[in-house]
Amino acid sequence: MPRPKVGIVGAGNVGAACAFILQKRNVADVVMSDIVQGLPQGKALDMNQCRQVDHHSTRVTGTNEISDMRDCQVVVITAGVPRKPGMTREQLLDVNAGIIKDVCSKLLGTGAKPVIIVVTNPLDVMTYVALKITGFPRARVLGMAGMLDSNRYAHFIAERLQVSPRDISAMVLGSHGDTMVPLPRFTTVAGIPITELLPKEECDQLAIRARDGGIEIVNFLKTSAWLAPGSSIASMVEAILNDENRVMPCAAYLDGEYGLTDVVVGVPCKLGDGGIKEVMKLKLLPDELAALKKSAAVVKENCGLLKL
Ligand code: APR
Repeated sequence: MPRPKVGIVGAGNVGAACAFILQKRNVADVVMSDIVQGLPQGKALDMNQCRQVDHHSTRVTGTNEISDMRDCQVVVITAGVPRKPGMTREQLLDVNAGIIKDVCSKLLGTGAKPVIIVVTNPLDVMTYVALKITGFPRARVLGMAGMLDSNRYAHFIAERLQVSPRDISAMVLGSHGDTMVPLPRFTTVAGIPITELLPKEECDQLAIRARDGGIEIVNFLKTSAWLAPGSSIASMVEAILNDENRVMPCAAYLDGEYGLTDVVVGVPCKLGDGGIKEVMKLKLLPDELAALKKSAAVVKENCGLLKL
């Protein structure tokens, strides 16, 4: 059977990290594209030259043509401009929406019908743009943020409690921004909610640190993170290609779930063959639901600023 093929649009920090992680995990062959001539080709060559010493057989191909992704089962979109210090994700709105429209139109032109994972920020809005431009069913267009946010949350909890991050199941809902909704009640260490392990003030502080986890890195590096994003995307790609039915927080189009309609926001989803198989419904307390709705309202407002 031929190996699965994953397209990655944008060979910058996040796209290249994701390609490298997919290759290292032997998940799929990767086609990585960028508008900059030579960039994807050079990075692909560098990655392929690790194959002997790292013992993996998958290949990365660099290209400037999205048409080379016509036979990809999953396409990850990281093309866009990242944040600089002092910038919000929303300030990237117009420029990145133009890039998403361009990429999705080209992808449509190839006749491909992959599952699309949008990573470009502001990611909930960009996922909505990709859905509208492609006209794909909502199962096939989703955004990666919740996995990254819950990874960050899990890291801070693991450090505080001195437990392995592997034993933490962290739940973060809402948009990938200031209105993100970390849920301590649904965040557990070997099944024990952190609300039973830590006082409320500490749970609140950990939630704030997870929400601001991106900007903490931007302030150090003067650009946004790429390794934890790359790793989070790769886990979603694996869940889809291997039909794992993993339950992961994803930016998903909601059609009535949680009382929300016609908006993309982070919620737990069952991920497998074909993308989102089910939006999982958590029994939220009134304040948790209100926070999710507030987050969705911000995404809707930003979508309203765009001409779609
Ligand atoms: N088609 C293909 N590639 C494009 C296009 C386009 N239309 N427009 C821009 N790019 C490429 C750039 O040339 C660049 O190589 O996208 C790449 C983006 O890479 P970086 O600038 O390194 O940004 P990165 O850190 O990877 O972040 C990409 O992901 O996490 C989000 O906020 C982040 O929106 C940003 C995106």
